[in-house]
Amino acid sequence: MLLIFIINSQMNDEIKKAIDICKLAQRNYDLKKRLPHNDLETLIYVATNSPSKQNETHFNLRVYTDPARIQAIYDRTKNFTFSTNTRTEEIFTTTGVQKDQKYSVTNSQIKANVVFVYCDDTRNIRGGTHLTALREDAGPIAKETLFEQKAMSIGISSGQLVMAAALLGYKTGYCSAFEKTGKDSVQNLLQTESEPRLIVGVGYPDPNLTRKQHPDVYNKDIGIKEGKHGKDDENWVYPSMIEEDMIKEAYYNYQKIDVWLNDEKVDINKI
Ligand SMILES: Cc1cc2nc3c(=O)[nH]c(=O)nc-3n(C[C@H](O)[C@H](O)[C@H](O)COP(=O)(O)O)c2cc1C
Repeated sequence: MLLIFIINSQMNDEIKKAIDICKLAQRNYDLKKRLPHNDLETLIYVATNSPSKQNETHFNLRVYTDPARIQAIYDRTKNFTFSTNTRTEEIFTTTGVQKDQKYSVTNSQIKANVVFVYCDDTRNIRGGTHLTALREDAGPIAKETLFEQKAMSIGISSGQLVMAAALLGYKTGYCSAFEKTGKDSVQNLLQTESEPRLIVGVGYPDPNLTRKQHPDVYNKDIGIKEGKHGKDDENWVYPSMIEEDMIKEAYYNYQKIDVWLNDEKVDINKI
């Protein structure tokens, strides 16, 4: 009993440490290194063995270690938009498309040692609503239900993936904002049959940069004055949403996610 308690408390600490790593976006990597094959194999196992409703198949996975291929995917991610809080209307059309790319930089979270591309899939479908959704005359509710389940499955798998990567000592990043249409799309580049939905980067951080520094965008490259964060010849630094939320927490007693334990609302830092 005591032994289990000791082992579990060590595991609890390891799990929390890993979570505190993978919740952060790693913005640069040491591309001279390669992941050992054993770790790569474990990560692919983790990503492809996540639970899904009725054990249906909701995605397929393209895994890349080839730097040229990864660079080409990364080149199609110039969609990280800054100054959105103050200039949303100026930057975006009402359909959410950016009007002007001068407010955007590439997403270097996936300029990583290994890149996982989650693509849509509908093999092995067995649920009634889901089978209906695949019919040509399917109604919007059935279609939305399947779409939602597929997004959940990718979310669960990618969550397991980044958690396992952090437990193995790696840093991770995400990208959902990449070129989705036309000849420059990631789908066209990778020649996938179905739509890529989410990209995850895993790797070793660049020892010469801090977590949020962009590896190849400098302040001089930022087209608008208030977007710059330092001297022209310094690597541009991404803002951190988590740090923004920590400031909110300190000033306004803000808790990002409300939690009720047995119907009683709890302070998650004091459970
Ligand atoms: C499903 C998902 C999609 C994401 N897509 C993007 C993205 O397209 N671009 C980006 O810069 N970050 C993306 N992120 C990363 C989050 O913005 C990041 O994890 C969060 O802001 C916390 O990290 P930070 O404190 O470094 O900002 C995504 C994260 C998740 C979980």
